[in-house]
Amino acid sequence: MKKVLTADKSETFLNEEVGESYHSYTGAVEEAMKKYAEPTKIKELAKSGHIRILDCFFGMGYNSAMAVSVALEENPNCKVEVVGLELDAAIVSKIQEVNPEIAFFKHYKKLTNENLSFVEGNVSVKVLLGDVRETTKKLDDEHFDVVFWDPFSPKTMPEMWSEDLFKEMFRVMKSSGVLATYSCARLGRENMSKAGLFYDDGPKVGRRGPGTLAFKWE
Ligand SMILES: C[S@@+](CC[C@H](N)C(=O)[O-])C[C@H]1O[C@@H](n2cnc3c(N)ncnc32)[C@H](O)[C@@H]1O
Repeated sequence: MKKVLTADKSETFLNEEVGESYHSYTGAVEEAMKKYAEPTKIKELAKSGHIRILDCFFGMGYNSAMAVSVALEENPNCKVEVVGLELDAAIVSKIQEVNPEIAFFKHYKKLTNENLSFVEGNVSVKVLLGDVRETTKKLDDEHFDVVFWDPFSPKTMPEMWSEDLFKEMFRVMKSSGVLATYSCARLGRENMSKAGLFYDDGPKVGRRGPGTLAFKWE
């Protein structure tokens, strides 16, 4: 894996086997904030005092680390539970090699292949290693306020944008829950609909099209 600097000076890696990078070249940290933390209204949720985040395709965890940072800035007493789902232990170990400007990320350095969970103050982070098609089955019904959906692209990995997976997301999201993803591809959107989710455009940042936000209610 080759380390790459993105346009906002934050680092990511290029996965040469897949032919895609782990974050947008237009800015990895910017993407975590603008495509995930902001549209899922983490700041407002933090006022309620408790947020449960499912960070699917966790990689190095930029998206949830940013969300935790935003939540704690708004409400330092906020309880945050993060569950990350990731197949590849090698990318989790790369957390040690990057230093994005995300306040809470320094604590993510506690995640190693020997230790895939930690608690820091009111924040708990746990990564379930394995194929998302299996690990989602371990999650409770109606548990999460927010889902981050950040697989490789639908072109490269269409199986990660399937109706079955979005049905699982429908099952684990609270009725008020929201799912955010960077892609507006038709495959993902159609399968979200088939799974019972309602979608809308997410923010347009960097890449050509908007992202997508999905909800259980219109
Ligand atoms: C675009 S990257 C996600 C980057 C990540 N959100 C971050 O902030 O570093 C896609 C991730 O999906 C993971 N992945 C690929 N296939 C998977 C599968 N079947 N189950 C779970 N994760 C998978 C890859 O290992 C990779 O880390």
